[in-house]
Amino acid sequence: MRRNNKLPYNMTQEQYNELLRSQQGELNAVLMYQQLAKVVRSEKEREAFLQLSREEGRHASVFHSYTKKVLKPKKTMARIMPLLYYILGKKRLYKLIAKGEYDAAIGYEHLIKDFPEVESVKNDEKRHGDIVSGLLE
Ligand SMILES: [Fe+2]
Repeated sequence: MRRNNKLPYNMTQEQYNELLRSQQGELNAVLMYQQLAKVVRSEKEREAFLQLSREEGRHASVFHSYTKKVLKPKKTMARIMPLLYYILGKKRLYKLIAKGEYDAAIGYEHLIKDFPEVESVKNDEKRHGDIVSGLLE
């Protein structure tokens, strides 16, 4: 495998790129959940999404501990979140979000072997899927 001495943790360029992409996704999710928390109709949902937002922030910091690179969140998804809430409706949007969380959990699995801290992130994403699904019951 291709190695680059300038990369942290002796990781491959491909691994570094994937960790960076993951870090960016987590950062974006912080804002996304914050925005969603502003438009939901119940205190229970609001608190759930604020909790998710905080945990996505922790995830970003886990990836940062590997990449050592400071990224800025991208606001695009956060901006369209309220729109999606009204267009799709709560049920379809929450289902989409839950699926995104479960998919993220699966997508992180292969990283755990080389980046063990990612396991706690993976477990959180699964739990996030359950939490968001739970809001539809
Ligand atoms: Fe996350």
